[in-house]
Amino acid sequence: MLERRHRIRLGVTLAAVALAVVALGGCGDSTGPDNGQNALRPEGPYSEKILNLFVPFFWIAVVIGIGVVVGTVFVAMRFRMKPGEDPMPKQTHGNTVLEVGWTLIPALILAVMAVPTVAVIFDLADQPKGKDVVEITVSGRQWWWQFTYDNGIVTANEIHIPAGVPVALTLEGPPACVNAGFEPAGTGTGGSCYDNGVNHSFWVPALNGKKDIIPGRQSFLKLEADKPGTYLGQCAEYCGMSHANMRMRVIADTPADYQAWVDRQLKPWSAQATQAFAPINKKWGCLGCHSADPEKPGSIAPNLTHLADRCKFAAEMFTLDEDNLTEWVHNAPGMKPFGPFAAAMPSFEEQGMTVQEANQIAKFLLENTGTSGSVPPAECN
Ligand code: CUA
Repeated sequence: MLERRHRIRLGVTLAAVALAVVALGGCGDSTGPDNGQNALRPEGPYSEKILNLFVPFFWIAVVIGIGVVVGTVFVAMRFRMKPGEDPMPKQTHGNTVLEVGWTLIPALILAVMAVPTVAVIFDLADQPKGKDVVEITVSGRQWWWQFTYDNGIVTANEIHIPAGVPVALTLEGPPACVNAGFEPAGTGTGGSCYDNGVNHSFWVPALNGKKDIIPGRQSFLKLEADKPGTYLGQCAEYCGMSHANMRMRVIADTPADYQAWVDRQLKPWSAQATQAFAPINKKWGCLGCHSADPEKPGSIAPNLTHLADRCKFAAEMFTLDEDNLTEWVHNAPGMKPFGPFAAAMPSFEEQGMTVQEANQIAKFLLENTGTSGSVPPAECN
């Protein structure tokens, strides 16, 4: 008997320690780590509304949860069978007050919680309209983001928005099954349909909740940042081998900085740059997939017109520098987990490109596609 009691006590102690470790492990910082993707650190009015809803409901749930656990433990201790007791307890049937109580009280709590919840749902679903509103169409691709602004700019993976101004996003998949015109090495796709138009989910936690992107349908989401800064996000719906590396960056600028960025983005390449790129494109066919027109999307790949104005490339996977870009141009699949199954860009090494040629292309892009005065731009730091 003593033996058994010891074992139970040991078990209870171990369980309590394990629970404490798990519970305390989440308490490094009262509002979680500052990793730039934290819904508990809202940086705009929409994300703030979500947090303001979440926090009181969380504490209500904590109080109810503690009540249930304490009540359960109390009843188990207080009414357990004692030595010499009749093993058959007193039988009761029905208790109207209790039954009505435990039905009505939760129903009331839920009804009260529903009022602000429904209000916030409608509030967040209301798309901003007006002259100041920036409208951007977001296309979820395998595996990167294409952004098309109402003012014509087409960019990838990184967007600039004016701080303190609502941004209306229209979310959609690729136009149709995208034909790459080539077969990514080793995929056996026959070069038929590269981007399968799968579901993605757009999520920048500091600026709003997430919204799925479903091919063939449009959905809407809005963003607003209180102040200038960088807000990170990533795809939140499994979409294939590179899902985990499908990130994005929102850079909120002052209105003046934003306008300056827009003006720079609308500028095409210089005549010299266009001329210098012609033989490269002729040999390797870059513009078969990419675009070098600031207002034209690439067929399956990011617009390169202002590549060096971005902080990173390959859906924010790599810092934009000469070494990384050379390696990427030479053998993109070699830089990604799952290789050709995760990179739309083929291996040009397999097509006979030398490292020197790849380096020339990388240098060309770094020297000709940046407009902010530094590569990467100052706001990346
Ligand atoms: Cu796109 Cu996950």
